[in-house]
Amino acid sequence: MSRLDSFIRRITAQRECLNEAARAIEGLDGVVFELGLGNGRTYHHLRERLPDREIFVFERSPAAHPDCMPDAEHLFVGDVHDTLPAAVERFRGQVALLHCDLGTGDLAGNRRLADFISETIPPLMAPGALVLTDPAFDLPQAERQALPDGVEPDRYYVYRWPGRTAETARAAG
Ligand SMILES: C[S@@+](CC[C@H](N)C(=O)[O-])C[C@H]1O[C@@H](n2cnc3c(N)ncnc32)[C@H](O)[C@@H]1O
Repeated sequence: MSRLDSFIRRITAQRECLNEAARAIEGLDGVVFELGLGNGRTYHHLRERLPDREIFVFERSPAAHPDCMPDAEHLFVGDVHDTLPAAVERFRGQVALLHCDLGTGDLAGNRRLADFISETIPPLMAPGALVLTDPAFDLPQAERQALPDGVEPDRYYVYRWPGRTAETARAAG
């Protein structure tokens, strides 16, 4: 497969997973964490899909298009090794959706970062929350979810935190 085809498949998988997650967290209270602003494409997409949610972005060197730049209150500038642990007390149990897109061309570095984030996020997650990532996380307490129709296995990784789901929250009123 050409690198262009592979890129298109990854980006399509990302969009489909984000769309499904945005629907799935309807009725679930909580904020969104976006790890990795980059060009701001996925942040912008989440803002469109979740206009009423607070979205907090973590990025070490913000350089997105001005339309895709969070305001200062919603942007944590710095390395996630520092900024994510520092956010735990403030956001304990309040994150309904966490999307991690921190990847670079350094595959071993991506794996180490994924392991660090897997260890750091558990206290942040709300019951029933979703985690979207590539590469995979090691989250024994969460349940890996099927990918949306048409998305190839292992193109993206989706996990659901145990506890109250959006569906049960809706049912309970
Ligand atoms: C693949 S890009 C994100 C793309 C973005 N989701 C988009 O749609 O435009 C990865 C971003 O993660 C950031 N990043 C990588 N490692 C980081 C770290 N340890 N701490 C903070 N930001 C990091 C990079 O600076 C880069 O902007």
